[in-house]
Amino acid sequence: MLQDIYQPNPEFAKTATIKSMDEYYALTKKATDDYEGFWGDYAKEKIDWFKPFDTVLDESNAPFVAWFKGGKLNVSHQCIDRHLDTRKNKAAIIFEGDRGDVQTITYLDLYKNVNKFANLLKEDFGVKKGDRVVIYMPMIPEAAYAMLACARIGAIHSIVFGGFSSEALKDRIEDAEAKVVITADGAFRKTKPYMLKPVVDAAITEGSPVEKVLVVERNNEEVTWLAGRDYSYNELIKNKSTHCEAEVMDSEDPLFLLYTSGSTGKPKGVQHNSAGYILWAQMTMEWVFDVKENDTYWCTADVGWITGHTYIVYGPLAMGATTMMFEGVITYPDAGRPWAMVENHRINQFYTAPTAIRVLHKMGEDEPAKYDLSSLKVLGTVGEPIDPTAWKWYYEEVGNSKCAIVDTYWQTETGGHIVSPLPGATPIKAGCATLPLPGIIAEVLDPATGEIAEVGETGYMCITRPWPSQIRAVWGDEDRYIKSYFADVKKDGKAVYFTGDGAKYDEDGYITITGRTDDVINVSGHRMGTAEVEAAIKKHSNVAAVAVVGKPHELKGEGIFAYIVLKSVPMEHKDDIADELETMKEINKIIKIEIGNIALCDDMVFVPDLPKTRSGKIMRRILRAIAKGEKITQDTSTLEDPSIVGIIEDLCKAK
Ligand code: WTA
Repeated sequence: MLQDIYQPNPEFAKTATIKSMDEYYALTKKATDDYEGFWGDYAKEKIDWFKPFDTVLDESNAPFVAWFKGGKLNVSHQCIDRHLDTRKNKAAIIFEGDRGDVQTITYLDLYKNVNKFANLLKEDFGVKKGDRVVIYMPMIPEAAYAMLACARIGAIHSIVFGGFSSEALKDRIEDAEAKVVITADGAFRKTKPYMLKPVVDAAITEGSPVEKVLVVERNNEEVTWLAGRDYSYNELIKNKSTHCEAEVMDSEDPLFLLYTSGSTGKPKGVQHNSAGYILWAQMTMEWVFDVKENDTYWCTADVGWITGHTYIVYGPLAMGATTMMFEGVITYPDAGRPWAMVENHRINQFYTAPTAIRVLHKMGEDEPAKYDLSSLKVLGTVGEPIDPTAWKWYYEEVGNSKCAIVDTYWQTETGGHIVSPLPGATPIKAGCATLPLPGIIAEVLDPATGEIAEVGETGYMCITRPWPSQIRAVWGDEDRYIKSYFADVKKDGKAVYFTGDGAKYDEDGYITITGRTDDVINVSGHRMGTAEVEAAIKKHSNVAAVAVVGKPHELKGEGIFAYIVLKSVPMEHKDDIADELETMKEINKIIKIEIGNIALCDDMVFVPDLPKTRSGKIMRRILRAIAKGEKITQDTSTLEDPSIVGIIEDLCKAK
């Protein structure tokens, strides 16, 4: 069936950065004809270099690559200092607190705050270039200052999302060998204070690399202070100088680490370096969100995820835009909150996740109509495939059928968007990420042959040439970098980057992302490795074996479904519901401690065994199909015990 196509708004297209498909094709042609010339020209134009680069791309050590070698820059200079001549009094960040408190931070304020913060880290904590600093913060401006202060002095930040537990935080601190943690006492959610500092306290145990903890006092609740380790930001910042010389950084000096889930083992520290990352962050802001000088842009993500890094802090500030930061919950006090904020702040670009759109739709279908949303020009979505129902509501009710929807496909490892419509050029279809951005050679390949997939056939979403904001390394593990991204698909005999996602082309050559092909679950747009959740569940003393899969969920996209084999309970025990519920509660409690609330199981079923091959491999595909309520079509005769499939199906039906 042919899908409806929505043309770009012609009024909008007139002033858009990329105004037509002709312009789009001209740019993609330029990139394919002269790849290095394309990127080299943009790098010269967009970055304020301290020293120009010598080469554009060095692939001699592929798949490890280097961009803009020999160039010197500083990302905080790119995001702040270079704007001071023309944008000193322009709002860099507009902050709205949970309780409605608003703070406007100009570029000059940002300069001063970041410089003071950088001096604090240097002078009081002895942080030097290359040191790792973990940031465990709520959504407050100090989180952005902390990131930029690290960038200013060349320290590598690693942000851990505030919803992660102390165990998850501890793992990430230790893997990165961070000597400093920046946190807050807590913040506010639904007008009530909540706490972060106690989580940090629990994460720093005997033998921890952490020497100092900096605490931003946001909610002023009582916290424990460990003398000689814990310091108040509010106190130390008082007498700091507002100037700190920006460290001269090489193009390939690391900017940050961000831990993300893979299909196996512990989370990986995805490393992004300075020049390539900031270049693409800035360019995609200009192309995909089309932010103009007087616009106000709002991305609802959390700085704990890559979307918050690239599209709340680095991208908008690198281009000199005004970026909104929101501490609260978008459905509080009601599902009209984001629309009230759009009206009050005259937001021009709004960027959120499909899960949020579904919740806002369900809780407040008619809310958008109550507000003046006429300032909106571009609506964005990211994190998971968006279903046509949510897309239509977003397009018609929020965008009043005049705003482009940019369904941006990308991931932590790509640093910025890779497949996305351009709002002034690309005709769009509901639920479709459309076309690769100019300069990104993204192709759907048949994994068996490495050929471009046929129209309608699901293949592997690959990127077949290096790109500037590409992941540079998995922290401390060269082997894992190769195995995770360059081991599955070869094109013309050469290993290419595989995203882990399936995708297909339609008759117009548009790309639709079909979802992960590996054991990664996408819960409310958050990447969750099944191995991590299973490791947590196995910590329960009565669990003998477990397999976790994703199950479609109305609001979250996917929910977590666990098949659990208990050690001591015979199947007759099924009658004893109370006991079973107790065990489930205990298991979720362990998950909360090990990972955090975001990984709690939506469904658990206790089974006598898991479907395994004779060599002991768990057949997850069967378990995924059962969780979805699909008919099992695959051959089960190779299983050690084929009858287990029927038993598990019955147990699931009985639930
Ligand atoms: C999924 C978030 C479909 C995908 C930026 C990817 C999407 C993972 C889209 C990355 C989209 C992201 N359509 N799926 N527009 N955007 N994804 O690293 O599975 O947290 O691999 O980065 O989210 O999640 P991550």
